[in-house]
Amino acid sequence: MISDYIDGEFIKIKRQPKRTIMKYKIAVLDFGGQYAHLIANRVRRLGVFTEILAPTASIDKFEGFAGIIFSGGPSSVYEENRPEFNHEILDLDVPKLGICYGHQLINQTLGGEVTPGKVKEYGVAMLKLVQPEHALLKGLPMESAMWMSHGDKVSRPAEGFVTIASTDDCEQSAVANDEKKIYGIQFHPEVTHSKFGTKLLENFVNICECEKTWSTKNYLDELTEKLIKQVGDKNIFLLVSGGVDSTVAFVLLNKIFGKDRVLGLHIDNGLMRHNESVAVDKFLAEHDIDNLHVSDSTDLFLKNLEGKSIPEEKRKIIGDTFLQVKDIEIAKLDLDPEKWLLAQGTIYPDTIESGGTDNAEVIKTHHNRVEAIMDLLEKGLIIEPLADLYKDEVRALGEELDIPHALVWRHPFPGPGLGVRLLCSDKEGVATQNSDEINTYLADNNIDGTILPIKSVGVQGDGRTYASPFVVQTEQTWAECEKYSTAITNRFAEINRLVYQVGPKVKSDFKLIKQFCTKEPLDFLRQIDDLCTDFLQDNDLYKEIWQMPVVLVPLTVDGKPVVVLRPVCSTEAMTANFYEMDKELLNKLWSILEAAGVGALLYDITHKPPGTIEWE
Ligand code: XMP
Repeated sequence: MISDYIDGEFIKIKRQPKRTIMKYKIAVLDFGGQYAHLIANRVRRLGVFTEILAPTASIDKFEGFAGIIFSGGPSSVYEENRPEFNHEILDLDVPKLGICYGHQLINQTLGGEVTPGKVKEYGVAMLKLVQPEHALLKGLPMESAMWMSHGDKVSRPAEGFVTIASTDDCEQSAVANDEKKIYGIQFHPEVTHSKFGTKLLENFVNICECEKTWSTKNYLDELTEKLIKQVGDKNIFLLVSGGVDSTVAFVLLNKIFGKDRVLGLHIDNGLMRHNESVAVDKFLAEHDIDNLHVSDSTDLFLKNLEGKSIPEEKRKIIGDTFLQVKDIEIAKLDLDPEKWLLAQGTIYPDTIESGGTDNAEVIKTHHNRVEAIMDLLEKGLIIEPLADLYKDEVRALGEELDIPHALVWRHPFPGPGLGVRLLCSDKEGVATQNSDEINTYLADNNIDGTILPIKSVGVQGDGRTYASPFVVQTEQTWAECEKYSTAITNRFAEINRLVYQVGPKVKSDFKLIKQFCTKEPLDFLRQIDDLCTDFLQDNDLYKEIWQMPVVLVPLTVDGKPVVVLRPVCSTEAMTANFYEMDKELLNKLWSILEAAGVGALLYDITHKPPGTIEWE
């Protein structure tokens, strides 16, 4: 059907039948960015469009929604600066579901009692149904595992609510006021550890009598209409990195507007992978996408990054330099800036991790969310065709657009590229020592390891952390690695990530060195990254692993560089598990990297949360 618009005959677009009001979408109130996004993503997988709204949004913003979900969040209802909400929302005549913080907030607001928690309950709990026939619990077994992460709990539900399910430690695990169609649950149905979580969300969608008509295919029609309106008679200048998101955006815009009105700009920022820019240009040309202009701007990027070592500063410089290059190239190509709109392949989570809503903290500023871009966005001068989509949905759209499978399923690569995988340091020689508490813990558990004198970014309780990694230097099974990783990051605030040293377990002496984004370490990282990608492909691991950042840290062992591998399994990058690589294969990879000059190989054994996928 898309081919209809290649010829520019937009009238041929088959439109969706007009939807009846209140029947096709659900609002998620954002009390904590990551939680809200996971809920929205899961509900969309059920075929229902979701939008994330600020809890303080005015009541007119809720028109057209069939139901409202109050998300969980890191706050306590007792905190002074707790996220508030517009109480009129509770009077809207649509079903509402509160999850965790949302459950507590609704019950407290309506006169129930929330007891402040002394201990945080974190992990899987057995949910036992009290009213198995209840519509919200349809299809759930009498007992099932659900993920809990809370301190406070509802000790007395508000008037009109009854208990419909409990766990041993939390009686009011699920409550319902059927007359008002308000429900509350203490556990998190959106995480994969909650086996019947999706079923419960589906039950809520059914209570809302919501049509399940949303799919990336249908969304494409809606998006096309929206873009045609938004672009008007202007042309589009799109930044194309060659990754999944920007390529999907490029193909989509070409198909809607035709190649004459779209121009792609690929900027080689010197932070790309080995041979990447040449490969992107060649690949797109092979698929008849030749409206691409390539600019080699390595020198400018490296000059702007000179002497910079703070991650957020580096990210902002890279984002700003992209804009600087865009202006230079527009001038070179003699394009009238009045007639060309800038487009980029921003996806939904980029906004949230950059602190895009009231209750979301800045975890990291994505390159497409720097201040200058935000200004242009506010003025309506930026087109972001994928800004409402999650990674899995962008891929589905890519398939829909017939983009070759191999490209759609390429490992994601961040916009700032190797710039955020080459960790920098303006100090040298500093060593850190384990605290007495850490040493006691290690002795008690019979493991050896050291806190490293560097820092990486993490996300815990929905907030940003910037703390040290801890390297485990005794042989461990992956199950033990997972156990220690969770225990140590929970226990010691100065540690937000664990790595496992591959190869012979001699106690290496890690030395901090000065390191910046300069050509030499970048070239070395490019070479190592290339060896690792080949290794994944040669050993059939490329598909199994969702993404594997290779990180060069400012440390040496015996004068040789230290490399970190961060292979993860994920679907939408909001949460991730570290990948358990076969140890024999891992040792094989270590031999390859050792021969290439690597002094020590560290394998990241941290889930997200508490670690982010990238190190900065
Ligand atoms: P984190 O590190 O936040 O990464 O767990 C989640 C996903 O996003 C990618 N990433 C980025 N992508 N611009 C991008 O286009 C960025 O600034 C950026 N930072 C992280 C990361 O590779 C992972 O897939």
